[in-house]
Amino acid sequence: MPKSNHSSRNASPLRSAYSSYKPDNMAVADDLHPVIHAGRVALITGAASGIGKAAAIEFAKLGLKIAIADLNEQKLKEVGAAVGKIVGDANVLVIPTDVSKIEEVVRLRDRVYEAWGEVAVLMNNAGVGNKGTSWAGIENWRKVFDVNLFGIVNVQQTFVPSMLHQENPAIVINTGSKQGITNPPGNAAYNASKAAVKSLTEGLAHELRERNSESVTAHLFIPGWAWTGLTGANNELTEKPAGAWTAEETVLYMLDKVREGEFYILVPDNETKREVDQLRIMWAAADIAEGRPALSRWHQNWKALYEEYIRDGLAQLE
Ligand SMILES: NC(=O)c1ccc[n+]([C@@H]2O[C@H](COP(=O)([O-])OP(=O)(O)OC[C@H]3O[C@@H](n4cnc5c(N)ncnc54)[C@H](O)[C@@H]3O)[C@@H](O)[C@H]2O)c1
Repeated sequence: MPKSNHSSRNASPLRSAYSSYKPDNMAVADDLHPVIHAGRVALITGAASGIGKAAAIEFAKLGLKIAIADLNEQKLKEVGAAVGKIVGDANVLVIPTDVSKIEEVVRLRDRVYEAWGEVAVLMNNAGVGNKGTSWAGIENWRKVFDVNLFGIVNVQQTFVPSMLHQENPAIVINTGSKQGITNPPGNAAYNASKAAVKSLTEGLAHELRERNSESVTAHLFIPGWAWTGLTGANNELTEKPAGAWTAEETVLYMLDKVREGEFYILVPDNETKREVDQLRIMWAAADIAEGRPALSRWHQNWKALYEEYIRDGLAQLE
C-alpha cells in the first residue's frame, strides 16, 4: 500500500491492537497439502523485496524449489543467495524479468519449465505504487497498469496453459490490495489497478472451476499494511511502524489460508483487524446498493453515520 494513503488507516478510533500473527498446526498441514510441500516448484514475481522475498524464503523453508523473478537484478541475486542457503543452490533459479514485457515472461516460463518441468505455486506479486490521481500523472497510470495489471495478465496467459497440463495440482496466487476493494482516496491509479486484479482473479477462479477439474485453483491474496519497499521499509533510517505487520507475518498468514483453501485471503495487521475490514467492505458495497455518494466513508455528511456503523457492527461481531 503506498505511503501516501496511510492517513486512511487512522479514520477510526475504534481499532484495537491486533496481536501479530503466529501460525499454528503448520507441521501437520505441511505434510497434507498437495501443492505446498517439499520438491515442488514455486515461482514468485517481485521477489527481490518485501512480500515476494519473504514468500521465497518461507516456501524454501518448506522445501520447495524456488524460481524468483524481479526487475531489480542486484537485490534478486541477494535473495537467491539467501534462498540457496535454505534449499541448496541447485534448487534456486534467479531470473531477472520485467513482468510488464510479455517476451521476458515467455523467457521466464521457458527457463523454469526447462529446468524443472512444472510450476506448482505461481505467485503473481510484483507491484508498484506510483501515484496517479484523477486528472494528473498519466505516465504513472500507464506504469501502474503495465505492472500491476498487465504483469499478472502476461504471467497468467503464459503459465496457466502449461500448468493445466501438469499431472499434479497447482495454485495461482495473485496479490491484490484492500485498496482495490474499498478504494480509499489518495492514489486512484493504484486502486484501479488492484480493483482489476480482484476482478481478473475472481474470473480465473471461476474459469478454472468450470473445467470440472480441481487441478489448478486460484487465490486472491489481500495483504494488510505490510512493512516493505512499497511502504518505506527500504529506507534504513525508518523503523517499522507499530501498526504494520512484517512481510514474514503477512506471508505466514497467507500460507495458512492457502492451506485452508480460502479464495479471498484478507490479511489483518496491527491496526486493522478482520472485523473492521469486513465492515469496511460491506459499507463500500452498500454505497452502490443503497445509492449513497461515491466513497461515502470519506464524505463529510456521512462520516458520523459511518463511524456509528463501525461501532455498532463491531459490538455485534465481537
Ligand atoms: N506492503 C503493503 O502494505 C501492501 C499492501 C497491499 C498490497 N501490496 C502488494 O504486495 C505486492 C508486493 O509489494 P511489496 O509491498 O512487497 O513491495 P516491494 O516494493 O517491497 O516489492 C515489490 C517488488 O516488485 C518488483 N517489481 C516492480 N516492478 C516490476 C516489474 N515490472 N517486473 C518485475 N518485478 C517488478 C520490485 O522491484 C520489488 O522488488 C505488490 O503487488 C503490492 O501492491 C502490498
